[in-house]
Amino acid sequence: MDNLLDFTGQSALITGAASGFGEALALALATRGAKLCLADFNAEGLADTVKQVEALGGEVVSLVGDIADEAHNEALVLLAKERFGRLDIAVNNAGVAPRLGPMTQLDGPTLDRQLAVNAKGVAFGMKHQMRAMGAQKNGAILNVSSMAGLGGTPMGSSYCAAKHAVIGMTKTAAVEMGSVNVRVNAICPFFTATPMVDNPFLNPNGNIEEVNKNLARGCPLKRIAKVEEIVNVMVMVLSPHNTYMNGIAIPVDGGMSAL
Ligand SMILES: NC(=O)c1ccc[n+]([C@@H]2O[C@H](COP(=O)([O-])OP(=O)(O)OC[C@H]3O[C@@H](n4cnc5c(N)ncnc54)[C@H](O)[C@@H]3O)[C@@H](O)[C@H]2O)c1
Repeated sequence: MDNLLDFTGQSALITGAASGFGEALALALATRGAKLCLADFNAEGLADTVKQVEALGGEVVSLVGDIADEAHNEALVLLAKERFGRLDIAVNNAGVAPRLGPMTQLDGPTLDRQLAVNAKGVAFGMKHQMRAMGAQKNGAILNVSSMAGLGGTPMGSSYCAAKHAVIGMTKTAAVEMGSVNVRVNAICPFFTATPMVDNPFLNPNGNIEEVNKNLARGCPLKRIAKVEEIVNVMVMVLSPHNTYMNGIAIPVDGGMSAL
């Protein structure tokens, strides 16, 4: 294995590991030797990811819980430290799609849910991960924001607010933690074919190919991303040899930000 992508002995925590990016990243890191602490509130999906990691010969622990709950985030870090002795990598990936609609129709429960899961989940995750990594004087955190964290998101203002918050917290943490060798970055994917995009809000008529074509219309590559195209970048960013990248929000967007 190329040693740039060798995660042997690294302990990695991944939230939202039951599905989509989180599941694929768990398998990608397990294949490269990482020991995993996985979380999700979807118990069945999480158990399935754990099984797949074990089938690859990976070491894995898991915890079911709601990422919006600070106690769950603290318990996850404790679990990783208890089982593996340290926490080298944390990926704050769990997230939910918003109820789509114009900002003139924005309602409290939609905004509260977005901020609770997509922003507070990341904030409390980072709080406890940073404490553990700060004490070790080493660590890498990757937060999953979105292109919605970098620009306006028509019909998705609540998601846009939460994903912008993720980038603000990423930069703040990167500056606060730099002196103790903890690096914090964010990734900003464009639409990707995960179960989040293949959902009834974006796909009311069940014709996913048509919906995906519409989502990709303005994109220079003229298609939405495949899961592995985002996960490959996550793996590169998390490489134990990627030691000087800190505090940036990386678009992986088929050229959208070049427009
Ligand atoms: N798919 C895309 O187009 C896209 C684009 C940009 C950013 N993202 C972001 O990527 C991340 C992963 O999403 P995905 O596309 O893989 O979708 P997904 O729905 O497949 O995965 C999200 C996972 O998060 C879990 N989750 C949701 N709420 C939770 C909670 N309160 N507590 C614990 N777990 C919870 C879900 O159960 C699920 O397993 C999200 O943060 C999402 O906003 C996705």
